[in-house]
Amino acid sequence: MNQLVETMESNEILQSEMMYSQIIEYSVESIIIHAENKVLYINQVGSEFLRGTKEQIIGSNCLNIIQDDMRDMISERIQQGMCGEPLEVIEQSIIRCDGTLVDVEFYCQQVQFGNRKAMQTVFRDITMRKETEKMLYDRQKMASIGQIAAGIVHEVKNPLTSVKGFLQLLKENNPHPYILAMESELEKAIDTLSNLLQVAKPDLYSEPITEIDLCKELSSLLFLFQDKLYDIEIETDIQDCDKHIYGKKNMYLKAFFNLIKNAIEAMPGKGKLRIEHYYQSDSVNVKIIDTGVGIPKDKINLLGTPFYSNKSDGTGLGLTQVFSTINDHGGQITVHSVVDRGTTVHMKLPEKPVGFEMH
Ligand SMILES: Nc1ncnc2c1ncn2[C@@H]1O[C@H](COP(=O)(O)OP(=O)(O)OP(=O)(O)O)[C@@H](O)[C@H]1O
Ligand SMILES: [Mg+2]
Repeated sequence: MNQLVETMESNEILQSEMMYSQIIEYSVESIIIHAENKVLYINQVGSEFLRGTKEQIIGSNCLNIIQDDMRDMISERIQQGMCGEPLEVIEQSIIRCDGTLVDVEFYCQQVQFGNRKAMQTVFRDITMRKETEKMLYDRQKMASIGQIAAGIVHEVKNPLTSVKGFLQLLKENNPHPYILAMESELEKAIDTLSNLLQVAKPDLYSEPITEIDLCKELSSLLFLFQDKLYDIEIETDIQDCDKHIYGKKNMYLKAFFNLIKNAIEAMPGKGKLRIEHYYQSDSVNVKIIDTGVGIPKDKINLLGTPFYSNKSDGTGLGLTQVFSTINDHGGQITVHSVVDRGTTVHMKLPEKPVGFEMH
């Protein structure tokens, strides 16, 4: 008799679990049900998003998708949620079954799954939102840099130019070797100011939008570095050359020049410079990859900040120009780097500039 009751109860439990699973199966959101860190159920959308199969994911540890350094914190939050504490939405980069990372936001909620308490975690891909936010942030940063730069250039360049004029007069009356040195230093300062203005307010240098054959231009640019490429192996993977982009050619060329220059400077001994060009998802993709010194993780955010440089003779304006050019054309740029291994700069360029104030 007791056994009969137990069997009826376990049937009911099973049925209730199945009903619950069916309801979430048809949700458009990615949903995982888990208890004690074990995945009890994942819907189809979720397993596709995680690039795995249900069989692979159900039964596995749900913390497997969390990066090592965040696991303890997330585990603690889940415990709190299980005790009924309300949990806020968490934004995280998670690891999919194929090892790739993706930015998601997720929220956990306690649910009754069959006869036991479990957690339901709903997660949503926020890659696009993150990219848009970053683009907006970069644009705002560049806009304010532009305002400051324009102010500085205005205030400082004019007096420097008049000093240069007086030096010339002085040189005519009292030639002195120091005057030549002063002139050349002054010239450098004026150049830096002009550069800053150009990278921060590129619209001042109105250049027409033209069609650009990047395959051709990239090869020509490499040619300019020939004397520096003695110990550096060059590898190119240039595809989809029928796809051209439109934009301000000189700005783009200067940006690629700055990137190749950085890559070469990052490989003082031997190294390999790889350039890729291909078309994917409505964008022309260009990757500049070096096997150089790399950039520490905590410095990646500083890239593009004017005057940020680790080189004794660097102005720190190279990447500022690169970032502003790519952003102004509505493109995206990401830098991936590992110290002592190398750096990859990946640009996704729209065929037609987006949001560029065309002249
Ligand atoms: N490919 C790279 N590998 C390693 N570090 C890099 C790379 N690209 C940039 N960096 C780091 O970022 C800093 C800023 O680069 P940026 O091009 O803006 O200025 P710079 O190269 O120092 O000076 P400039 O470009 O004016 O000659 C560099 O000093 C360097 O430390
Ligand atoms: Mg540089």
